Order: sequence, then structure tokens, then C-alpha cells
Amino acid sequence: MNIEPLHPTLGAVVHDVDLASIGPSTFEHIEQAFYVHGVLVFPGQRLTNENHLAFSRMFGPLQKRTTYARDKERIDSDEIADISNIDANGMLLLPDSRQRAMNMGDRLWHTDGTFQQVPSMISLLYAAEVVPVGGNTEFADMRAAYDALPASERQEYENLVLVHSVYRSREQVGFTEFNEHIQQLRPPAQQVMVRVHEKTGRRSLYLASHASHIIGRDVRESRALLRRLIEFATQERFVYSHRWNAGDLVMWDNRCTMHRARPFDDLRYRRIMQRTTVLDSANSVEKALAAGRKLELGPVEFRLGMVPSLDAPIT
Ligand code: OGA
Ligand code: MN
Repeated sequence: MNIEPLHPTLGAVVHDVDLASIGPSTFEHIEQAFYVHGVLVFPGQRLTNENHLAFSRMFGPLQKRTTYARDKERIDSDEIADISNIDANGMLLLPDSRQRAMNMGDRLWHTDGTFQQVPSMISLLYAAEVVPVGGNTEFADMRAAYDALPASERQEYENLVLVHSVYRSREQVGFTEFNEHIQQLRPPAQQVMVRVHEKTGRRSLYLASHASHIIGRDVRESRALLRRLIEFATQERFVYSHRWNAGDLVMWDNRCTMHRARPFDDLRYRRIMQRTTVLDSANSVEKALAAGRKLELGPVEFRLGMVPSLDAPIT
């Protein structure tokens, strides 16, 4: 096994390892490298669903898939999410399909599963079929971004709590057609704005396009701040852009990175990916409180189009 960094602070490629058959000592090396680099790329893999699941489970229990129908022959487990642009019959998604609208949300900078009470800890994305142009995945180092903030800002954000909803990121790409029933299936969740990594002790900004607002702050003001921080954290110096080859498995630590899909001609080319996701052990607010941190708590509410009305009529 041979580990080669891809970027000054984020990401490394791991050569000469077959993820279909790794022993405990190799696993230990991988785990250590993962905590240092935040993103690991394993090129040239040939994984069955069972191999993908088995490697992923070495990091902890997996979350059940929440995405739409998948091709049952290709994906035979409800712990594998279909991150592709094809439907259950292997056809390209139609321009106006709900699934395609849902996928568009992944083109915004985000962290997986922050809208869940127990968020996603590690994502492992495996590429079966790639596109000739575009379709990179970009990763941002939220540890380095946090460290680069002025001390006064780091202090200002330390106790803040964000409300996240999957419908907030979808609202931002113009997908708002969710009835009451669908909205109730995925209620909003609260997460700390500054996360402390359990294994390394490092602090990170914990942001995502799922984040709606800061608890206890004006919604418009918090949205402007969240936008500014996402821009800050995704400057080129903090970003590694992954160009996919078929057979790549890329795993990232959702506790200290953000990512986004880059555009490609999804109405023309098939891009076939599948993801397993290791669940965190608890909500980040609960963990922080248990560790003795003081947080600014309040109601965890989200509605599509939520903004307080102003004090004067439209003239
Ligand atoms: C994901 C994701 C980005 C991509 O699988 O969680 O955001 O490039 N994927 O497909
Ligand atoms: Mn994602």
C-alpha cells in the first residue's frame, strides 16, 4: 500500500490495495490515513455490492438508502444508494423527473445527511460508469477553512446551532414540489456549526446547503452569513477536485469536508455510481452538550419559503 497526497491539506490516493480483500493491519493503515487526509481515493477497484458493503461496515453501521427506486439487479441492498442518472430500467432520467430534480441538489456544496437527526459520518462512493467530460466531484477541507478564519469569527460561531432540512437545499435549485406528507417524512434537524472531530480533536466548520438558518438569529441574516461562509470555505486553496475513472472508490469524512457534483451532460451520458454511508453515533448537538459545550438552543423549525414578513406593506 502506497499513499500519495493529492492536495496540500485534503485528499490522498491509496495505491496497491484491493478493497475486496483487506486484513486488519491494512485496515488500520487506511483508517489512520483517512483521519489525516479526510478524503481517500482507491483507484482500479472491482467491487461487488457485497465487497462495497463489507469494506464500508468496517467503519461502523450503515444507513438505509433514502433515494428513489433503483435498478434492483445492479443494487441488491437497501444499504446502497443509487447515485446515478438512470432510472430503475436503466434509462437516462427524463428532464422533468423528480429523481433528476433531486439529484440537482447534489450540485450545491453540501455535507451528507446533516438534515438527519443522526447525520452521515463517512460516505463511500464507487464509480461503475463515468462520463467523458465534466462530472467531477469536488471536496472542500472544512478544517483548513476553520483554521483560516480570524479568531474573532471562530469565537462568534463556536456556540451556534443550525437548522438543516433536505428541502432547503432542494428549494435552492427550484425544487419545491413536496406535499405535507413528504415533508413530514424528513423533519428538520439541528447540528452544531463548529464540529470537533472525535478522532483528531480538530475543529471544522460544519456547513451544507441543507442548512437553513441559525437558531435564534434572523433568517435573512443567517442565510447571508451561511452563504458567505460556504464561499469562504470553498476557495480554490481548500478544494480538491476529483476526476473520476471507472473503478474508483472515493471515501470522505462528512465531519470535516463538504462536497458537490460538477455538471455534465446528464441527458446524454450515463454516470453510474453507488454509495454506502456510515452513520454517525449521535446528533452533533447532543455530542457537543455531552462534551460540556454551551450552545445557543431554540426551536428546530423549517418550512419551504420560510422568511419572516416585514413591517411595511409592498408599495
Ligand atoms: C453523494 C454526492 C456527488 C457526485 O454521493 O453524496 O453528493 O459527484 N455525490 O455524484
Ligand atoms: Mn453528497
